[in-house]
Amino acid sequence: MNDENDHNPSDPVDENTEFVEEDVQATGASAEGASPRFRDPGRRWKLLLGVGVLAMALVTVGIAALLLNISERRDEAREPYFRVTELTENTTSAEVWGQNFPLQFESYKRTIEMDEGRPGGSEGLPAVLDEDDPRAKTTTEQKLELDPRLVDMWKGYAFSIDYREKRGHAYMQHDQLVTERVKQVDQPGGCVNCHVSTVEVMNELGDGDMKAGFDEINAMSFDEAAPLFDHPMTCIDCHDPETMELRITRPAFEKGIADAKAAEGIKDYDVNRDATASEMRTFVCAQCHVEYYFKGEGKTLTFPWGKGLNIDDEYDYYMEEGFTDWTHEITGGEMLKAQHPEFELWNQGVHAAAGVSCADCHMPYQREGAMKVSEHNVQSPLENINASCQTCHSTSEGELQARVDTIQERHLRTRDVAQDALTELIADIEAAKEAGATDAELKEAWDYQRKASFYIDWIVSENSLGFHAPGEALRILNDATDAARKGQLALLEA
Ligand code: HEC
Ligand code: HEC
Ligand code: HEC
Ligand code: HEC
Ligand code: HEC
Repeated sequence: MNDENDHNPSDPVDENTEFVEEDVQATGASAEGASPRFRDPGRRWKLLLGVGVLAMALVTVGIAALLLNISERRDEAREPYFRVTELTENTTSAEVWGQNFPLQFESYKRTIEMDEGRPGGSEGLPAVLDEDDPRAKTTTEQKLELDPRLVDMWKGYAFSIDYREKRGHAYMQHDQLVTERVKQVDQPGGCVNCHVSTVEVMNELGDGDMKAGFDEINAMSFDEAAPLFDHPMTCIDCHDPETMELRITRPAFEKGIADAKAAEGIKDYDVNRDATASEMRTFVCAQCHVEYYFKGEGKTLTFPWGKGLNIDDEYDYYMEEGFTDWTHEITGGEMLKAQHPEFELWNQGVHAAAGVSCADCHMPYQREGAMKVSEHNVQSPLENINASCQTCHSTSEGELQARVDTIQERHLRTRDVAQDALTELIADIEAAKEAGATDAELKEAWDYQRKASFYIDWIVSENSLGFHAPGEALRILNDATDAARKGQLALLEA
């Protein structure tokens, strides 16, 4: 852990600075992360106590000096950097942004560091380099080898060939270019949307209309689209270059979240106009860390949120659209694939209910002198429990780690049971087919296979091992086991 991050919440001097800064922020100069009303109530009292200590300090130190200090802070908060260089919609290079914001740039660059030795974490392994494999020096673990049941689950689909552990943002473009899923299978251009910096290229393709540029990319093949981009996600994908405010740059999310709001009865939702500063701390991530599919002939990248954001809503949506991803090679059933629904699972948990955003845990504030700097090395929050969790939880670091461990261990045990049930259903359908069962006789078992498969996949592809919403994750796995067992019964009755 970095020494500078080591900020002790019970240190009274620290509390004073915190108070002064929150006061400055209350003037609207800058947005605080989770709004204070969602904070641990005990913390409010500590803050009040801090106010008391501050009042006494005022008397001793002298009021004039402090007022000067506060007014300096206000200026800092309003103009917290020197504009060394002008940034525009065409400034894709993070290095150029880094001239104005060296601290954020330094931490952004550290997404290239690999974490080792954590279950579910990304391991830096020596790459198997042969002539056809330009994968750089390292790769990550092959999930299909860690759990061969996944191969059966996805049989006949690209994921059964190559599905690796994810790693830091610095690798997003590289890893997509070298996966066997694009080498052995033709993929749509829309794939690039979440793996590169899109702003400059999509504006150019659409003559200043990002949505038009997006449609053009969707119409391309992956092999046509990929070479147009030369930068993984960068500053411009999350920030307005003039105001530095967070913004949404992905048309698929704009449409998806508007659909989800419409399902709640909110019409004409425009995320860049209507979202709060606090919501944006989640929405910028939800442009990519979500379930998606390529819709219709145009292969438009689409988020299946027309009925709402939870897994049942997504499943119902697909069933109503009549959409499936592939035909299962062993059973012949029509299947659905799920991908990284971090946003949707988070949305079902207590942290979302309390207004705790992705950035609160994954990009916690670090103190740099009087300023707070958001950690741009986006990674597992367990790498820095102090900054990520203890701002709200007064529990010890060891206890917080233990709670996460317990949640994840229970999760994996339950997931294991569900995966075994699905593996058995697949074997039973295979046996029934071999024994001459007709499509009509298999229909019900296929429906159950699709449901069990999608529900397990949704959990397997979600990257928090249940942490983002532990209860909901167990509920989903329970429904999956139930579906798989009912599928087996349906075969017996057919
Ligand atoms: C443009 C799409 C995009 C956006 C926006 C995005 N991510 Fe990611 N994220 C990815 C991709 C792709 C990967 C996997 C990269 C790889 O494995 O090569 C990833 C990886 C990660 C990882 C794993 C890091 C590791 O060390 O294993 C975390 C954590 C993460 N993202 C969290 C976030 C959070 C939090 C936000 C919002 C602040 C966010 N992401 C915004 C696409 C995105
Ligand atoms: C909606 C955003 C989005 C789209 C579209 C998208 N990805 Fe990703 N991709 C991510 C995120 C987020 C991660 C990191 C989380 C994970 O690995 O589950 C990721 C991880 C990956 C990885 C690294 C881990 C692995 O799966 O081996 C590869 C490779 C990849 N994507 C390839 C693709 C391909 C090929 C397509 C098009 C079929 C695609 N992606 C489309 C968001 C997206
Ligand atoms: C309350 C804190 C918290 C919030 C809020 C939160 N996460 Fe997480 N996230 C975690 C923890 C804890 C893990 C498990 C990390 C581990 O196992 O190492 C995790 C894991 C992840 C991972 C896998 C990281 C890895 O290295 O294994 C991704 C990706 C991710 N979260 C994305 C998101 C996104 C996107 C959001 C918002 C929609 C979000 N998280 C909200 C705490 C949080
Ligand atoms: C995945 C989205 C994402 C990317 C990419 C990103 N940022 Fe940020 N950035 C954030 C979030 C979230 C915050 C917190 C903003 C808030 O709470 O209002 C932030 C805050 C900031 C701030 C305000 C001060 C602070 O640290 O809180 C600056 C300056 C900044 N980022 C610079 C950069 C630079 C420079 C880059 C590129 C090297 C970059 N950002 C890339 C999401 C991103
Ligand atoms: C911005 C504040 C905030 C941050 C940051 C935060 N939490 Fe929480 N956490 C909460 C709140 C609020 C609750 C709900 C408390 C309640 O309702 O009783 C909660 C609940 C929990 C629970 C109980 C979950 C449940 O299902 O009942 C656990 C475990 C937890 N947090 C762990 C963590 C960990 C680990 C981190 C860091 C990765 C973290 N939290 C970061 C505010 C936060």
